Amino acid sequence: MNILKNDLLLRTLRGETTERTPVWMMRQAGRYLPDYMKLKEKYSFFERCQNPELATAITIQPVEQVGVDAAIIFSDILVVPQAMGMEVQMVEGKGPFLPDPVRRIEDLDKLHLPDVEEKLGYVFDALRLTKKTLDGRVPLIGFAGSPWTLLCYMVQGKGSKTFDEAKAFCYTQPETAHRLLQMITDTTIAYLKGQAKAGADVVQIFDSWGGLLGPEDFETISLRYIRQIVAALKEEVLTIVFAKGAWSSLEGMAATGAHGLGIDWCIRPQMARQLAGPKVALQGNFDPAKLLSPIPVIRKEVTAMLDAFQGHPHIANLGHGILPDVPVDHARAFVDTVKNYRP
Ligand code: CP3
Repeated sequence: MNILKNDLLLRTLRGETTERTPVWMMRQAGRYLPDYMKLKEKYSFFERCQNPELATAITIQPVEQVGVDAAIIFSDILVVPQAMGMEVQMVEGKGPFLPDPVRRIEDLDKLHLPDVEEKLGYVFDALRLTKKTLDGRVPLIGFAGSPWTLLCYMVQGKGSKTFDEAKAFCYTQPETAHRLLQMITDTTIAYLKGQAKAGADVVQIFDSWGGLLGPEDFETISLRYIRQIVAALKEEVLTIVFAKGAWSSLEGMAATGAHGLGIDWCIRPQMARQLAGPKVALQGNFDPAKLLSPIPVIRKEVTAMLDAFQGHPHIANLGHGILPDVPVDHARAFVDTVKNYRP
């Protein structure tokens, strides 16, 4: 069961030269796929996450229908705050809503460090079943949110463009904020170790809101905790850190020892490479909105992106999650262009 027919992603993350660039898309499971929309009518969001058969079916859809070189387990970063004792609702058309956010030190008493087997065992079950169902076709990616990105939702209580309440919390109650960040970090380490044990070949840390912090704050509020997570995991499993918008800290991210670093489309590949150094695999960085362009434009721009990453380990991906309104044949054009590319 451990023999993979396609291990391009794993070899690239180990820094090996491969016959072609591996490709997958962040948020590839769900959203834009018609078969997912059918399941969405029948089951609530967290039902889809908690039922291993459903999570497996959704995880495998993009492998079979779009041809990506890796599967990412269908789940959400917010299952961690849930496991720590917070109520999380997913409101259709609006996104996450946490009715009882953390605002002061007493609120930490309502949270706990969960036994991950007990509270998140359903994710491990889904990983085991997916691994078995994939039968070695492609590697399986597990994931978690970064402590800072999870704090954003736990304090703000909902999505935001600026997460100003979360930032104010860190700036006005730093001790409480750091206690919370450490609790999330400890939970995440246990959770990702459990994912690796259940069959994840790679784990990605999503720091979706890292770019909201200036470089100094990014170091003290986000990277310090990501560093702990990578240090605890990197001997056990391949790791990717994706801190959207935080490109000015790529050097520090590379120094964590992560095997891969995600970048968005606002930085040129050459500059990212200069900052990150020659060894680490870079992942990205196609503008997700460009998948709405006509297919010939997608082909041309993906080729230009691949040219720009030549010479060092690269994983083709989007610079953030795929958008829900992307036509499936456009997603396929992205993947096929990478697969057919020859430098
Ligand atoms: O990559 C994958 O396909 C695996 C599944 C996955 C989901 N969420 C499923 C999901 C992953 C990796 C995530 C990560 C996630 N969740 C992030 C980090 C990545 C990023 O995009 O920045 C964040 C910030 C969240 C929190 C979250 N979950 C939001 C803001 C929303 C609502 C808006 C949205 O992005 O769709 C969700 C809901 C969610 N998580 C959906 C899916 C498929 C859509 C809801 C639905 O289908 O009912």
